[in-house]
Amino acid sequence: MTESNVLVIGSGGREHALCWKLSDSPFVKNIYCAPGSVGISTTNKVQSVDLNIKDYPALAKWCKDKDIDVVIVGPEDPLAEGIVDELTARGVQCFGPTKAGAQIEANKDWSKTFMNKYQLPTARHKSFTDAAAAKEFINNAPYPALVVKASGLAAGKGVVVAANKEEACQAVDEILSQAKYGDAGETIVVEELLEGDEVSVLAFTDGETVSVMPPAQDHKRIGDGDTGPNTGGMGAYCPCPLITSDQFADVKDTVLQRAVDGLKAEGIKYVGVLYAGLMVTKAGPMVLEFNCRFGDPETQVLMTLLESDLYKVVKACVDGTLKQMQVTWNTKLSSVGVVIASKGYPETSTKGCVISGLSQVANMPGIVVFHSGVARGANGTLVTWGGRVVLVCARAASLRAAAAAATAAASVVDFPGAQYRKDIAHRAFSKGAE
Ligand code: AMP
Ligand code: GLY
Repeated sequence: MTESNVLVIGSGGREHALCWKLSDSPFVKNIYCAPGSVGISTTNKVQSVDLNIKDYPALAKWCKDKDIDVVIVGPEDPLAEGIVDELTARGVQCFGPTKAGAQIEANKDWSKTFMNKYQLPTARHKSFTDAAAAKEFINNAPYPALVVKASGLAAGKGVVVAANKEEACQAVDEILSQAKYGDAGETIVVEELLEGDEVSVLAFTDGETVSVMPPAQDHKRIGDGDTGPNTGGMGAYCPCPLITSDQFADVKDTVLQRAVDGLKAEGIKYVGVLYAGLMVTKAGPMVLEFNCRFGDPETQVLMTLLESDLYKVVKACVDGTLKQMQVTWNTKLSSVGVVIASKGYPETSTKGCVISGLSQVANMPGIVVFHSGVARGANGTLVTWGGRVVLVCARAASLRAAAAAATAAASVVDFPGAQYRKDIAHRAFSKGAE
């Protein structure tokens, strides 16, 4: 058996989950994670490395020196900046789309035009660079044009779901006229407000074939009952029953496969993960957004249910052989992840609070802990280092049991000001799921 070395780019819970799953592979010898984290480094076979990922010649040389077989890029920013183009041109294999492919997330104006061209189901919209024209449209559109989005990447922000036309017009002023999100808001997308349940459907792809992952749901608001401000995600669960199996099959064909075919028709070979953020409306699933990468925190729950060897799936994508591979998932278990965030999150975050209970939780049966914002403190302690601190993930035979176990485990992790949601998967339960 040949053993390979892998480099994972990123430092969050998503990358921790990818490293954790990769470490199971008998084909993987060393996993490097740049920049990684204290928690990620505790995973078997994993070392965190301090690399300048923007110095492409040096990064490519490092990959060659370390005999890196494939680079897996976690976050969207390096993808949008073209890390895959740069490394590929220097002979380093990458799992992730090129700069052109990453536009599907990084340029919402482009993405909406693309979706319309290839008839992907999505909210009606119009793009603007002029505030007066945008406001006139909001006031006269034949549908509730209440969602205002900065077209570019704005670190997960940059989307305003307005309660009324006045608020939507205010968002136009903030994003276009006052440049609240800088260049990312030079163009805005004004979109029809959709109602329904949000579901994340991610797929592996080699640019031809798509292999769809089971549906998951993120919880974006800070508070129980989906209240309070939006965050990077306070928890997730999988599988999510808020999309029917017929709708799910349809999403595979009319969203994910169609998108990959459309990208190919545009001359873009899209390799990596394509993530469809969907609204399951009364009229069926509609695309709210595409992401050009794994989701966080969806990846943490997904990786705990992936039965196939992640390294082999990644290789099939980069080698263009996904069609010949059966990617398998544990369909008997449900997985629930609860994020524990630091005091003040999402407006601010607290660094340096000593975290207790982590080793106790890590030893609980069925529980896995993924680190996001954790650093080494004095005397070997672990301390908070950012907004989202850890995610505790529980697998169980039912969604109820997994949610109860994850919530119980979250209560054991403690530090001053720790906050977590106690209702992950509540939308599934309110629709009768057990
Ligand atoms: P996006 O980054 O485009 O997914 O938008 C962020 C969040 O805004 C989504 O997760 C939704 O909660 C919400 N959102 C985006 N577009 C719409 C829409 N057309 N209708 C209702 N909510 C939306
Ligand atoms: N879970 C939302 C995201 O990864 O963008």
